[in-house]
Amino acid sequence: MPVGNNRVEMMKKQTIVATMTLGLAFTMPAWATQGDAEAGKQKAVSVCAACHGPDGNSTAPNFPKLAGQNEDYLKISLIRYRSKERINAIMNGQAATLTDKEIADLAAYFASQKGLQVKY
Ligand code: HEC
Repeated sequence: MPVGNNRVEMMKKQTIVATMTLGLAFTMPAWATQGDAEAGKQKAVSVCAACHGPDGNSTAPNFPKLAGQNEDYLKISLIRYRSKERINAIMNGQAATLTDKEIADLAAYFASQKGLQVKY
C-alpha cells in the first residue's frame, strides 16, 4: 500500500474520533453542566431570595432551606420542576424558563452557602 493511503486512513480515523467527541459534548445531560456559584448568586439573590432567603436559609417552614444542600440534589430538583416530573405550582413556574447553565449555577451557589449539613 502506498504511504499516501496510510495518511488518508489516519485522517479518516481522526475525523471519526473528533466526530464522536463532538457528539458526546452535544448529548451531555442537563445535570452534567458545571455550575459557577458566583454566576448563580445574582439570580438567587434577586429571584429565589423572596422565598428561600438570599443565602438559601429560608425563615418560613413552607419554603425549604437550600443553603448547604447537596449540589446534585438541587440540580436534579430544578431539572424535574422544569420538566414537571416534580409537581409544585410555584416551583414549576420558577423553573420553567431556567437554562441548564442557570440551574447548574444556582445549585452551585446554594450548595456553597452555610446551612444544611449532610452527615456521612
Ligand atoms: C414564590 C416562592 C418561591 C420562589 C420565588 C422560589 N421558590 Fe423554590 N420552592 C418554593 C416552595 C414552596 C418549594 C417547595 C415545593 C415542593 O414541595 O416541591 C420550593 C422548593 C424548591 C426546591 C426543592 C428543595 C427540596 O428540598 O427539595 C429547590 C431546589 C428550589 N425551590 C429552588 C429555587 C430556586 C433556585 C429559585 C429561584 C430561581 C426558587 N426556588 C424560587 C417556593 C419558591
